[in-house]
Amino acid sequence: MKRILLTIMASFSIIGCMDSISVAPKIAELGTVSNAMRLERGRAVYITSCSRCHNAVRITRFTQSKWDGILPEMIEKSKLNSSDSVAVTAYIRKVLNASTTTAQPSKSE
Ligand code: HEC
Repeated sequence: MKRILLTIMASFSIIGCMDSISVAPKIAELGTVSNAMRLERGRAVYITSCSRCHNAVRITRFTQSKWDGILPEMIEKSKLNSSDSVAVTAYIRKVLNASTTTAQPSKSE
């Protein structure tokens, strides 16, 4: 009985882990990138600064055009300096691009 409980708890912590990865995917999961340093910075900013007032939002929950509306306002709220703003913007853009090329069908129709 105890063992079953432990297994269930272990599965939950694994699922929890996977979830935090997909909220803000690691740079290594985004395919080939040209500006890894900036994207790493952007991810760090996303995880730290963008979870101060609310949980970090799953990036792929919104389209690029939605983000274009939301992000400038949130950067303003976060009081980011200009290089952090550029980095977090680049990171979100890259995550969205990577998810449309790997997970979703292309917009060819
Ligand atoms: C100073 C507090 C604060 C910080 C820091 C902050 N946010 Fe927000 N965020 C809010 C509030 C308040 C709302 C809801 C009201 C609104 O849309 O203005 C919100 C809403 C959002 C939403 C919309 C959620 C929805 O379900 O519609 C997204 C996406 C978001 N924030 C992303 C970010 C990102 C990305 C960052 C980092 C650049 C960030 N936030 C930093 C306060 C903050």
